[in-house]
Amino acid sequence: MTDARTLVIFGVFGDLTQRKLVPALYNLMVDGALPKEMAIVGVGRKEGAVDELRKGLRESAAQFSRRLPLDDQVWDRFAASVAFVHGNLDEADVYIALKEKLKDGDRIFYLATPPDLFPVVLRNLHEHGLLVKGSATRVIIEKPFGRDLASARALNALCAEYLDESQIFRIDHYLGKETVQNILVFRFGNSIFEPLWNRKYIDHVQITAAESIGIEKRGRFYDANGVLRDVVQNHLLQVLALCAMEAPTSFDADDVRDAKFQVFRSLRPIGPECATDVVRAQYRGYREEEGVAPDSVTPTFTALKVMVDSWRWQGVPFYLRAGKHLAERCTEISIHFQAIPLCLFTREQACHMFEPSVLVLRIQPEEGITLHFVAKVPGEHIAVESVAMNMTYADTFRKPLSDAYERLLLDCIRGDATLFARRDAVEQAWSFITPILDAWDADKSSLPVYELGSDGPKEAHDLVSRDGRRWRSLSPHSAA
Ligand code: BG6
Repeated sequence: MTDARTLVIFGVFGDLTQRKLVPALYNLMVDGALPKEMAIVGVGRKEGAVDELRKGLRESAAQFSRRLPLDDQVWDRFAASVAFVHGNLDEADVYIALKEKLKDGDRIFYLATPPDLFPVVLRNLHEHGLLVKGSATRVIIEKPFGRDLASARALNALCAEYLDESQIFRIDHYLGKETVQNILVFRFGNSIFEPLWNRKYIDHVQITAAESIGIEKRGRFYDANGVLRDVVQNHLLQVLALCAMEAPTSFDADDVRDAKFQVFRSLRPIGPECATDVVRAQYRGYREEEGVAPDSVTPTFTALKVMVDSWRWQGVPFYLRAGKHLAERCTEISIHFQAIPLCLFTREQACHMFEPSVLVLRIQPEEGITLHFVAKVPGEHIAVESVAMNMTYADTFRKPLSDAYERLLLDCIRGDATLFARRDAVEQAWSFITPILDAWDADKSSLPVYELGSDGPKEAHDLVSRDGRRWRSLSPHSAA
């Protein structure tokens, strides 16, 4: 594939375009990473002139870009590359106008619309001759990719009718994060961790995606989706797959995705009979948010105990939790090693001080890696304390991390799908999630409520304490 020269964004007035895509494209332009003469065509419903659109985009970039203030010269070049087509996405006029605007060369269509419009846009693009199977045209489809297994399959089938798999880029921005990409480098670029990375040495794994913000202005979207569809089916399961997968044959897109797929296939199903392995809850005041139904049962928090049925992981639980309006913003993976088999310090009455070692891969914020282990406190007696060896990206690399969308947009422009989700993996992840959604739909009991700024509902603590374990604190500076 050659570099794409045109990017068409459906949903140009949407939250995602404003917060993520425009700042990412602007920063790529600052870095000189976009192909020369890249054209960006925004498609949206609001009427207006292209100048108004450009003005609005500038305001977004000025608010959300990681580099501020904006560089006027770069911005002017960026703005000059933006064209606009307005209209309803289910009406032919939009696609006729779009076709006239498009330059020659390879194109990317970015579907940054609400998910119910994905099939509508795809069908229309196809009917207007804008999707040619086997060509270099690419389509980026945002998440959630489907609402459940059946709808994800239907959307995949529609995509496959119009496009080859190599033309479909199912985006999951977690995969573009530097710290998430580093999971594989950390595991397979060092020889000291991998021998320990299995059931013989690891007691359990925790994967946390805690957010301190609420649903912001996305009430309608969020209420229709909830935490499982919003971040677990995609982000958390992708992270789990990177932590749990076997070494791929190579770092090529399909080899990496094959190895991840095996993990999705090995997830032990959670059905109604495993209800105790899943917790859901809603933050206090959620039902009063704009766009949310007053009797909504959409969860904003979940905690799950996931088992991976493979030789490597048999008996090692992966505890996942995600939620809005929690005490801290904290996304991390913690690998909890087994306790020592025998304590030698009984005479010194020090055995209660020995905490198992924990390796924390900190995805964000304060990106880095910390190993917590015990050390002897200097002195005459045996006393130990948990200490930390810490690597932070800020201190080590001394340059800001680029945003995940920058990396993923660039990969798609270059035609590299390694960091995008493949059809089989998406469906397999839905096969795992859908029975949980069904069980929740069928369960009419009331939803636990948790306080804003807390670390989640009591039920989440029960989930791990039943197994004699506890969640790590959400605070970035917490010990093991
Ligand atoms: C998005 C979800 O995919 O990820 C949001 O739709 C969530 O609800 C966001 O806030 C979290 O992304 P990040 O990069 O801030 O962890």
